[in-house]
Amino acid sequence: MTSSNVYLNGSFLPLSQAQISVMDRGFLFGDSIYEVIPAYSGRLFRLPHHLQRLNNSLQAIRMQNPMSDSEWTSMLEQLVAQQPGQDQSVYLQVTRGPAEQRDHTIPEKTKATVFAMSSPMHDPDPTVVGISAITLDDIRWRLCNIKATTLLANVLLKQEAKDAAAVESILIRDGNAMEGAASNLFIVLAGELITPPKSNYLLPGITRDLILELAEKNGLPHAERDITEPQLRSADEVWLTSSTKEIMPVTRLDQHPVGNGKPGPVYQQMSALYSEYKERIKQGLEQ
Ligand code: PDD
Repeated sequence: MTSSNVYLNGSFLPLSQAQISVMDRGFLFGDSIYEVIPAYSGRLFRLPHHLQRLNNSLQAIRMQNPMSDSEWTSMLEQLVAQQPGQDQSVYLQVTRGPAEQRDHTIPEKTKATVFAMSSPMHDPDPTVVGISAITLDDIRWRLCNIKATTLLANVLLKQEAKDAAAVESILIRDGNAMEGAASNLFIVLAGELITPPKSNYLLPGITRDLILELAEKNGLPHAERDITEPQLRSADEVWLTSSTKEIMPVTRLDQHPVGNGKPGPVYQQMSALYSEYKERIKQGLEQ
């Protein structure tokens, strides 16, 4: 952790001084939502998209947004400005706040807890030639579209991947591959880039949307369609995407090579398009 300050309820202060009540519903119930936003060269990546998803998550858990979009922007820009010249990953969290008693039902009056911190982020290692993933039964609840901090299922699923010397778990629900424990899923099958359609069974990833946008702009055949387990297993390429990990080519799935066991040509093409887009962001040519 760096020595820069974190944000808590209106103030910037050292992490060691940032404290919340043990009666906070975020602590007691996981009654809380979050966002993770990269910042490249001090510029928050796709911020309007993240603020929109933040609003959607809050609405889904019956909370008012405690800050306006311009207040969020100003606070996050100040946070990022504390580590100049450093690519960062900003974590923000909004909980329903502390209540007088522990009671499952939503109290009428609580004051949201708003927390944000920023950590240095490094470009993906160019020497990494792909990651291993395993498939697991999707044991999560049915509101996976909400970016809730209630992540116990994801924690256990990700740990199972680690125990199997893999990086990520690909989650299967009702015979379809949905997403990773902390990432979205793409496959390349018969020359077409496919990702599952948005639903309450997966998080609408900001990186996912950008990849679809880049595919559309650059004439790459693509579709939002269910991916069956046999399709996943016979795919020429499998990728997992997230704000912090960008695009990870999966080269081993359940101990078997994906395609020829190397990152594929469509990955190489999309990875180059993604890097160009990031470069334009860094130069302030795009948001
Ligand atoms: N996770 N699906 C899940 C379950 C995720 O947790 C994430 C990201 C994604 C990718 O979304 P995005 O492209 O907006 O980052 C998909 C973040 C990074 C995290 O929990 O740290």
